[in-house]
Amino acid sequence: ILWYYMPMQKRETLIKELPQLLLPWYRQNKRDLPWRKNKNPYRILVSEVMLQQTRVEAVIHKYNNFMEKLPTIEDLANCPEQELLKLWEGLGYYSRAKNLQKAAQEIVQNGFAREAKELIKLKGVGSYTAGAIASIAFEEKAPAVDGNVIRVLSRYLHDALPQDLLREQYFIELQPIYPTGNCGDFTQSLMELGATICTPKSPSCLACP
Ligand code: ADE
Repeated sequence: ILWYYMPMQKRETLIKELPQLLLPWYRQNKRDLPWRKNKNPYRILVSEVMLQQTRVEAVIHKYNNFMEKLPTIEDLANCPEQELLKLWEGLGYYSRAKNLQKAAQEIVQNGFAREAKELIKLKGVGSYTAGAIASIAFEEKAPAVDGNVIRVLSRYLHDALPQDLLREQYFIELQPIYPTGNCGDFTQSLMELGATICTPKSPSCLACP
């Protein structure tokens, strides 16, 4: 699947080295974001749905307000629709708010699934969001591969292929190297590198771990 031929062994070595390169960097450089304060699955779920199509800076304030008004998953499940849409103002895509509430109601009914393959069945939760929640809140070895992660890895590995092919490939290659006990940090280290160093335009390659 490579644009130019890199020996498979070299590729495997590069991939295996990712956690040791990224985790120390992440611990030193991670942004202080409100959903990183603890691993409450409800808080992680809300943050990941808000972040699906909205930038971190735009989410922070809305997220804090949302959590203040609806601190538990029961509060969200029982929230009147008008109030919910008010809390979602400025985040766009109101269907996401409605889906998030449906997911909350489902979780209140049947409990919070801990595995990505179950989480993906929730309304509004796709493969990326399911992997993010499972790895961050439950320490499952569940990759979360979005456009940012694809950009980071395709540059690192010199892959030049369509995104949808790489998404599948990276999921397969990342799963076995997820570091036990540090899955959430590893998922977020890939996101963080893409957001702060390995940006789409003019990346800061000299500062890259
Ligand atoms: N984008 C999606 N999930 C994120 C997270 N947990 N932290 C920062 N950016 C994100």
